[in-house]
Amino acid sequence: MERCVNIVQLWQNLCATKKKSHYIFIQTCFVHSRRRRDYYEKGNLVALYQHKVETGQLLPDEHQENIVNYLQELNIKIKGYTPPKQGFFQKFFGTGKQLEVPKGLYLYGAVGRGKTMLMDMFHDNCETKNKRRVHFHSFMLDVHTRIHEFKSKMVGREKTQRRPASYDPIPPVAKSLTEDAWLLCLDEFQVTDIGDAMILKRLFTELFNNGVIILATSNRCPDDLYKNGLQRSNFVPFIKILKDHCQTIPLESEFDYRLRTAVRQKVYFLKSEDDTDDSLNTIFKILCSKENDIVRRKILRIKGRNVTFPITCGQVVDCSFDELCNRPLGAVDYLSMSQVFHTVIIRNIPQLTLRQKTQARRFITLIDTFYDHKVRILCSADVPPEKLFVSVEDTEVTEDENRKLMDDLDISQSSESSKASIFSGEEEVFAFDRTISRLVEMQTTEYWEQREAS
Ligand SMILES: Nc1ncnc2c1ncn2[C@@H]1O[C@H](COP(=O)(O)OP(=O)(O)OP(=O)(O)O)[C@@H](O)[C@H]1O
Ligand SMILES: [Mg+2]
Repeated sequence: MERCVNIVQLWQNLCATKKKSHYIFIQTCFVHSRRRRDYYEKGNLVALYQHKVETGQLLPDEHQENIVNYLQELNIKIKGYTPPKQGFFQKFFGTGKQLEVPKGLYLYGAVGRGKTMLMDMFHDNCETKNKRRVHFHSFMLDVHTRIHEFKSKMVGREKTQRRPASYDPIPPVAKSLTEDAWLLCLDEFQVTDIGDAMILKRLFTELFNNGVIILATSNRCPDDLYKNGLQRSNFVPFIKILKDHCQTIPLESEFDYRLRTAVRQKVYFLKSEDDTDDSLNTIFKILCSKENDIVRRKILRIKGRNVTFPITCGQVVDCSFDELCNRPLGAVDYLSMSQVFHTVIIRNIPQLTLRQKTQARRFITLIDTFYDHKVRILCSADVPPEKLFVSVEDTEVTEDENRKLMDDLDISQSSESSKASIFSGEEEVFAFDRTISRLVEMQTTEYWEQREAS
């Protein structure tokens, strides 16, 4: 109980000092950004990066500096660039002159090396309004929504036309994406879904033909994208297209900056500790007292479905791992949650093995999405983050489960496809490193201060 009281104290102090510290933080940022604006030639990323190092906002890193030089080159190239309008005649008969589009960048490397930080620095400082920075999951969700909308429109139109309309939705979807932004900053490029894998080649061919420039970050080098994925041979041509339009550069920094010593908050509780549930209950109460609401059930309407959360208060939700990852939820649901809730309590996270590949995949997506939107999490778990996923093969069970999945997909056990990563859990094992790195950063005071209640 004494420990619980300490936590209450700590939390009350945090809440009491939060407003003041934020005021000072905002003030400092404001003065700082004004000075920076006076000091810099707008858009000089090299000088901006150096300034961040000199003022202690970043640790010096020669590998990052090298990337900043590439980013600055791209920045200069896109100055004054606009994709030419593609008229009917150019599209079908060509103009004789090849469209000169600056090559984008595909930045890849291990977790926590600063890829997203550099991409954001570029995005925030490059001089074009036609830019969009988006997490790859959200981008693909948007693509699928636009495809769906286009198809629905065509069905409506077909009834009034004698000849059946063309059903290829990719060109119009690519056109509408280009109209919204021709500089796409795609964070965490990853291909794990066969649906995405099959449309990427056509979609990106259209986007590149429209003059779109891509800056992407990823944990995988292009040749390893969709590694061991089902029907990968259909995906492989996309890799060449990507490489033709983006310089591929590794970021080889030695450290995961997320693991540097930083002030941590107690937000990750082990179930083996006494009072874990009491502590979380108390913290939930404190968080609720800051919300202008009562504790109640909340139903989120997502893509025509109702997703219910029994315990919520304002922008705080108290739920279990099972509620989040043991029912058929996906990126779109986690994205909606991060728009509605600033703090999520996740109770009873179990240690995951290959037997729970699906749950592990959902948990990876959930943490990626929450991290991207600065959602605060409090957890109770069986084991510390680095032990959450163990790739111990429980052969008997996985074989049974895999056999069922193979039957559903009509894949024989002797075929090449039976070695695909959906059966081996290889993709989950790989991606879990990112999840662990994020779970560590999500415990820091710095992370917690990033998102305020809206
Ligand atoms: N040079 C640096 N000095 C101090 N902190 C840094 C430095 N570079 C990055 N960071 C910090 O490290 C954390 C991780 O960086 P970032 O999210 O950009 O990594 P990442 O390479 O995108 O990782 P992931 O592959 O998991 O997405 C961020 O909080 C970022 O601000
Ligand atoms: Mg990143």
